[in-house]
Amino acid sequence: MEDEAALSENNAAVKAQALADYSEYCNPMKLRTLKHAGLEIIEGRREGALMWDLEGQCYIDCITAAGSMNVGRRNPEVIAALKDALDDYDIGVFLLGSKPKADLAKKLAEITPGGLKMTMFAVGGGEANDYAIKLARGYTRKPGIITTTLCYHGHTGLALAGIGRDAFRKPFEPLSPGFSRVPFNDLEAMAAAVTDQTAAIMIEPIQGEGGIHVASDDYMRGLRELCDERGVLLIFDEVQTGWCRTGKMFACEHAGVAPDIMTLAKSIGGGIYPIAATIYTEELNEFVIAHPFVHLSTFGGADLGCVVALKAIEIMEREKLWENASARGAQFEVGFNELKEKHSEILLEHRGRGLMRGLQFTNDSHGPRMTYQLAQHGVMALYTGNEPSVMRLMPSLVISEAQVATVLEALDASMQAVKDQDSGAAAPSDDAGRKKKRRRPGR
Ligand SMILES: Cc1ncc(COP(=O)(O)O)c(C=O)c1O
Repeated sequence: MEDEAALSENNAAVKAQALADYSEYCNPMKLRTLKHAGLEIIEGRREGALMWDLEGQCYIDCITAAGSMNVGRRNPEVIAALKDALDDYDIGVFLLGSKPKADLAKKLAEITPGGLKMTMFAVGGGEANDYAIKLARGYTRKPGIITTTLCYHGHTGLALAGIGRDAFRKPFEPLSPGFSRVPFNDLEAMAAAVTDQTAAIMIEPIQGEGGIHVASDDYMRGLRELCDERGVLLIFDEVQTGWCRTGKMFACEHAGVAPDIMTLAKSIGGGIYPIAATIYTEELNEFVIAHPFVHLSTFGGADLGCVVALKAIEIMEREKLWENASARGAQFEVGFNELKEKHSEILLEHRGRGLMRGLQFTNDSHGPRMTYQLAQHGVMALYTGNEPSVMRLMPSLVISEAQVATVLEALDASMQAVKDQDSGAAAPSDDAGRKKKRRRPGR
């Protein structure tokens, strides 16, 4: 018992120091915002769908770095694969071929839809999207890239120029010219925006940061037809939607549509090693053959990362993680319908597919306030980056039925608390100095 008390005291001290140092040396405002959202925590133990704060509080993780831990946090098989790989590999030399790179590229060609075959490796999703845009411009020799309102493709140079939030772009202007945005799910607007200077149309099959807006199957098919008719390339950013998240290996499979270029990141790294990929058709190889060294990335497709990715893919396929994503997603849907009836004053609708879910609240303050309340009930969830009125739920795909039930209970209690605040029945949440009794998340 004494040992436990000493350990807990030590962890509290480590946490306090880490928070102080983070504030001092990384980003004080970010920490302040997290504090107000009830997430002034330091990640400790991580396992499956769960995460423990250093002080021992357990959370069901519905953030998972925006869908980066589909195989579960610290998946033991992925960790073992990385440990084994450390006996033989390091990052490798980007310019050289290697067995892990070749094996992973071959696997990606096998499992991605349509004629996608060739891979350029990267470290993260933004970089993969930058290369997708470079490839589209290089191949077509045209500058125009059309994206969608509220879209999110990352904070790197070209991806940043495309994203649909002024606050992210404005401080860094002038950005690359040639980008335009049209409303999401509006085929007519897209068709009207295409010109003879358009290289590519780029969308997320489900807008993640934009507030979990699902592209209809008709829209996806219509985009494919439009691109074919007008000689424009189609890019699907499956950085969040890929890897079984929506109930299929890739979200575009719901509509039976394949793009010319697909970008993948996040869960390809098994939550353990950063790696990303831009996959494209053989036709586009014409440009790459003429410019074999046009894009370099020292850490892109690191040998260790490729080994990890191959193991993560093996697990996703063997465990058919798309099935649990569908089943637990359906469970969420039933629960959300009940919550919508019960809390109609604040919950307008729910959207999503599989385990990529969004709850649309009536105003922007509800996102942060729900995040705060959920944290008090042992659930870690965040509102979407470009749409704070939407609470996003993206747990690991190994989440159990009991854990989903616990998340639904936490949502119910949190919405009630927010409504009580709105009606003046309770003081607005202010975390300063206040710790409510937290529930234990179910297993
Ligand atoms: C759809 C989408 N594309 C691209 C990115 C950028 O990925 P990264 O943060 O790895 O650069 C993200 C990140 O959340 C994303 O959600």
